[in-house]
Amino acid sequence: MKNILVIGACGQIGSELTLQLRKDFGIQNVVASDLCIKAGSALEEGPMETLDARDRNAIAEISKKYNIDTIINLAAILSANGEKNPSLAWDVNINALINTFEVAREMKMDRVLVPSSIAAFGPTTPRENTPQETILEPTTMYGITKVAGELLGDYYVKKYGLDVRGLRYPGIISHETLPGGGTTDYAVAIYYDAVKFNKYTCFVSAETRLPMMYMPDCIKATIDLLKADFDTLKHHANFNVGAMSFSVDELAESIKKYQPDFSIDYAPDYRQAIADSWPDSIDDSAARAEWDWKPAFDLDAMTQDMLKNIRIKHEKGLI
Ligand code: NAD
Ligand code: SER
Repeated sequence: MKNILVIGACGQIGSELTLQLRKDFGIQNVVASDLCIKAGSALEEGPMETLDARDRNAIAEISKKYNIDTIINLAAILSANGEKNPSLAWDVNINALINTFEVAREMKMDRVLVPSSIAAFGPTTPRENTPQETILEPTTMYGITKVAGELLGDYYVKKYGLDVRGLRYPGIISHETLPGGGTTDYAVAIYYDAVKFNKYTCFVSAETRLPMMYMPDCIKATIDLLKADFDTLKHHANFNVGAMSFSVDELAESIKKYQPDFSIDYAPDYRQAIADSWPDSIDDSAARAEWDWKPAFDLDAMTQDMLKNIRIKHEKGLI
C-alpha cells in the first residue's frame, strides 16, 4: 500500500478522507480524482486528476501513471438522488465499481476499499441492533446497488484473490463538505440552519431514528479497515459499523442544550419512506472483533463540535 487513488475525492467523505490519507501515507502518494475538482480546493496540495470512473481505460491510465496499488472508490449517487435518477445510480454505483475491480485485478493491486451503507438493508431487515448477517432486501436503487456492490466485492475476493474491503457506513455527519443528496442529509442541514436561522424544517418526522456517525469516526473506521491485516478479516466488503443512533427529536434536543431557543418543525417528503426502510441501530460486533473498531463521538460531543465549526464558517461569511 504505497500509492493510493481516491475516486470521488471531492465528496462529503472524500474531501476529508483524502487529506487524512495524505497525512498518513504522504501527500504525493495519494491521488485525488473526481468528475471535476474545484479550483482552490484543499486537495490541490497533492496530485489530482479529473476522472469519470465509468471510463475503465481512464482509471487504468491514471493508475499506471502514478503506479497505484490501492484504490478507494467513493464515487456514488446517494439514496435521494438515486430515486430521482435510478439508471444513473446503477451506472455510477455498479459500472464504475466493476471498472475499479477489473483495473485492480489486472494490475494485481494490493487492495480496494469501497463503502457500502445502511441502505443495503430494507423494511424486512430486523430494525434494532441489525445483525451483520441478515436479510438484504432494499427498496431503493441506491440500496440495490450497495447490496450488489458488497456481493461483487466478496466475489472478487473469492474468485480472484483481490483484497476488497468495505463497510456499511451509517449516515455521516460533517461540517467541511455538504452531503451529496442522501436521505440522512437532514442531520447535517439541521446544524447549518440552527446557526444561520435558529430554526429548521425537517424533511422526515420527529420520531425518525437512524444510525449515524460523526466524520472523525468515519475517517478512523475507513483507515483502520484499510490498514487491517487481511488474515484477521473473516468478512470483507460488508462490515456493519455503528457509532450512535438518535431520532430527529433527540437531535433537536441536543442542539437546544447549546442553543436553547432553537426550534424545529416538520414537512416530511419522499425521503420519509426511504428513512423508514432503514434500521434504527446497528450491531457492529464483527468490526469490533476483526479490526478493533470503536467510535469516539456520541450525540452531544458531535453537536458541540458541529455548532462550533459551523459558527466559525458563519462568522467568516462562508455560509
Ligand atoms: P458524495 O455524493 O458526497 O460524493 C461522491 C463523489 O463522487 C462526488 O464528489 C461526485 O462528484 C463523485 N462522482 C459521482 N459520479 C462519479 C463518476 N462517474 N466518476 C467519478 N466520480 C464521481 O458521497 P459521499 O457521502 O462522500 O459518499 C462516499 C461513499 O460513501 C459512497 O459510496 C456512499 O454510498 C457511501 N456512503 C456515504 C454515506 C454518507 O452519509 N455520506 C453513508 C453511507 C455510505
Ligand atoms: N447517507 C446516505 C444516504 O442517505 C446513506 O448511505 O443516502
